[in-house]
Amino acid sequence: MERLLLPCLLMGLLMTTSPVAWSQPVDPAEIAKQEVEAALRLAPNIENGRRVYMVCTVCHTPEGWGRPDGRYPQIAGQIASVTIKQLADIRARNRDNPIMRPFTSPQLLGGVQEIADVAAYIAQLPMNPNNSTGPGFDLDYGKQLYAENCQDCHGKNGEGDPAENVPRIQGQHLNYLTRQFHWIRIGKRRNADQKMVKQIHRFTPRDEMAVLDYVSRLKPPASDLGQSGWQNPDFPKFYRGEGQ
Ligand code: HEC
Ligand code: HEC
Repeated sequence: MERLLLPCLLMGLLMTTSPVAWSQPVDPAEIAKQEVEAALRLAPNIENGRRVYMVCTVCHTPEGWGRPDGRYPQIAGQIASVTIKQLADIRARNRDNPIMRPFTSPQLLGGVQEIADVAAYIAQLPMNPNNSTGPGFDLDYGKQLYAENCQDCHGKNGEGDPAENVPRIQGQHLNYLTRQFHWIRIGKRRNADQKMVKQIHRFTPRDEMAVLDYVSRLKPPASDLGQSGWQNPDFPKFYRGEGQ
């Protein structure tokens, strides 16, 4: 018996102290959760966030206003904790985004501090005043659906909720809203909120169109909006390929 005791004790010690082999979570959701918690504890440096954002402008443009066709979402003005969660989820493969994922590597994006910094930078960018909306013929029904199924979490005007990591959805391009909503409903977006999935699982195509058309028309407060045609002065003209 005694001969077994020592190896057993050593094994036990190894299992509790070895940081790499034993204490690292393997569940992508858990990895992302730990990164979110760490990022939220840090004081963000917006100036460094601007530097980090450089790599994001390749797709998201210096303004972060997204594209009317919804291929790229508007990210400007998003609640910082929401951006942090999306970055951590995409990086840990808890949300599929094969186009963007390589840019979330530690080499290109950086560590937890950079995630906090770039999220704070994005949060203070003025928002697109001309996001794309739907045809507008079913808005009364959309409004009713919104009040009954969305408002408690996303807020009366789609402003989101920092405490619960609920995204700001006001001012977002319609096609992006439609794509995400659909992916959340069918389970393709793995980091979806399960309560939301339950809430919307009976939505018909008409319901979906009506509520998202309504959401796309929810305006952010005027103080958060940029002027039409605004160009982000943090990124100089030569960088945009203009004036060459
Ligand atoms: C190669 C193009 C590309 C680059 C570079 C890129 N992204 Fe993205 N990003 C996308 C695409 C495409 C989506 C939308 C994916 C989808 O529809 O699910 C997206 C989505 C996002 C979202 C989710 C928005 C939401 O409403 O949930 C955030 C946040 C984001 N990007 C931030 C960043 C940041 C910060 C960087 C720089 C570190 C970055 N992206 C770099 C292509 C890119
Ligand atoms: C129980 C709370 C809850 C309810 C109810 C809810 N949502 Fe959500 N929703 C969330 C959370 C939380 C997320 C973000 C999940 C994540 O990725 O972490 C989200 C994500 C979204 C997104 C994706 C946003 C983005 O930027 O990628 C859209 C669009 C959306 N919700 C629309 C709606 C609409 C429309 C309704 C009503 C029909 C609704 N939600 C009901 C909590 C809720």
